[in-house]
Amino acid sequence: MEFFDVVQSRHSIRSFVDKPVEPEKLRQLLETANRAPSAGNLQAYEIYVVCDPERRAALARASLGQGYVASAPVALVFCANPNRSATRYGERGVRLYAVQDATIACTYAMLAATALGLASVWIGAFSDQQVWQAIGSPEGLEPVAILSVGYPGEEREPSRRRPLDTIAHYLD
Ligand SMILES: Cc1cc2nc3c(=O)[nH]c(=O)nc-3n(C[C@H](O)[C@H](O)[C@H](O)COP(=O)(O)O)c2cc1C
Repeated sequence: MEFFDVVQSRHSIRSFVDKPVEPEKLRQLLETANRAPSAGNLQAYEIYVVCDPERRAALARASLGQGYVASAPVALVFCANPNRSATRYGERGVRLYAVQDATIACTYAMLAATALGLASVWIGAFSDQQVWQAIGSPEGLEPVAILSVGYPGEEREPSRRRPLDTIAHYLD
């Protein structure tokens, strides 16, 4: 799919059919995330690939009961790795770059999902502690975003956006 078609056709999908994501598609999606830029190319993030239904159910509970986290066959948990960024960037790496690295990687994965004919929804409303526990309490990592991925069980109209002129501020 052409890049601008991918961007136009991506919507958050919150209903998934009972069909697994092919391993090669999952791999391609993760390879795409791995192409994302990062501060100093440190890639201060980790991705937890959660296919196990019990762990997905735990992630759904951790996400304030958002059931589609459990019904999507894959949940990708993007975690900031602040210590990795701190090695070069100190406090700015901890506070900012590690989180940005993780979110850019998640964005790449989300767009790759669309290009591969998959649906996704970005989940940000969750208990950090409960998500962290659901992925095995990895030392020093901070969950930043969950991307639920699968085949769509619904069709959606594009959601509205602010008029561009209220967002883009041209300075002379
Ligand atoms: C940082 C962030 C957090 C989000 N958290 C949630 C969430 O917890 N649950 C959910 O259903 N959607 C969540 N979304 C998806 C947004 O609701 C969605 O992107 C927005 O409404 C625009 O719709 P669209 O994705 O279809 O264009 C989140 C998106 C972002 C970027």
